[in-house]
Amino acid sequence: MEAQDAFMIVPQPFQYQGSKRALAPMILRFLPAKFQRLVEPFAGSAAMTIACAGRGRASRFWVNDLNKPLAELLNLIVNRPEELADEYAKLWKGEAAEAIEQFYTVRETFNRTQDPKLFLYLLARCIKGAVRYNADGLFNQSPDKRRLGTRPDTMRQSIIAASMLLRGKTIATSHDFRDVLAAVEKNDVVYMDPPYQGTSGDRDSRYLAGLSFDDFVTALDGLNSRGLRYAISYDGRTGEKRYGEPLPAYLNLSHLELEAGRSTQATLLGRDDQTIESLYLSPALASDIGVLPKVTRHHAGQAILV
Ligand SMILES: C[S@@+](CC[C@H](N)C(=O)[O-])C[C@H]1O[C@@H](n2cnc3c(N)ncnc32)[C@H](O)[C@@H]1O
Repeated sequence: MEAQDAFMIVPQPFQYQGSKRALAPMILRFLPAKFQRLVEPFAGSAAMTIACAGRGRASRFWVNDLNKPLAELLNLIVNRPEELADEYAKLWKGEAAEAIEQFYTVRETFNRTQDPKLFLYLLARCIKGAVRYNADGLFNQSPDKRRLGTRPDTMRQSIIAASMLLRGKTIATSHDFRDVLAAVEKNDVVYMDPPYQGTSGDRDSRYLAGLSFDDFVTALDGLNSRGLRYAISYDGRTGEKRYGEPLPAYLNLSHLELEAGRSTQATLLGRDDQTIESLYLSPALASDIGVLPKVTRHHAGQAILV
């Protein structure tokens, strides 16, 4: 970890499954020192964007997510932080039984209205920030019965801090990732963290939308032919168990393995399995930052060739 990261407090208004908050400092080592705009087509909680803005690495940001209330929530955090914090304070309940009842009421209203302010409350209150959707696209995750969710004053501070980093520099949209990639420009750096690929054919209840492997590969090929700089968090492994279909060699990506720590499962079983997350760099990005196209593993600042 770089010295500046140890002292950096990066605001994260809501928890989100697959959030790259913890890994962001390591991923940022493989982006150029300074660049004009970071584009996140699969933004989720926008952890990379916030980390990048906090370190002054880019001057403009484009966050996008196909999940519309999520994209609208990001927009509210950036542009209407006080209003959002006020609404959260109104919804939040400090007493356990009341909080559980409130969760189900808000969830029912959210499923009818898709109001992003209600979505913030659900994300703060649901189990591990792990959103779940049923086959009809309705939010069906349960409340965390042991915690009450972020307290309103902490939420306000965090939303305002994120807004201060991003306001006037950021656009938030809700398009399919391909529409975003079509509008990417030469000076941009794109960071992609697509949804986890389950067994092929399975609907992933963890996100509102999934994506097809072939569409993703075609889009990457298109970016390569335009000579664009991009990085992808794509697959990984825990111990010897791999997940994610391999990206084709003809894309000529540099593959880095980042040690993300011990998996919760391994810790429970008393094993020492490391979770390794892959990061792929496009040929243009690798040549810009000087990474050779071969597999390297990174841990606490050192690169080990494997
Ligand atoms: C792994 S999460 C991103 C997590 C994010 N890196 C963070 O730190 O919070 C993937 C996101 O992609 C979004 N998504 C799924 N399919 C998409 C598509 N076709 N276009 C754009 N976004 C999509 C999902 O809604 C989800 O929020």
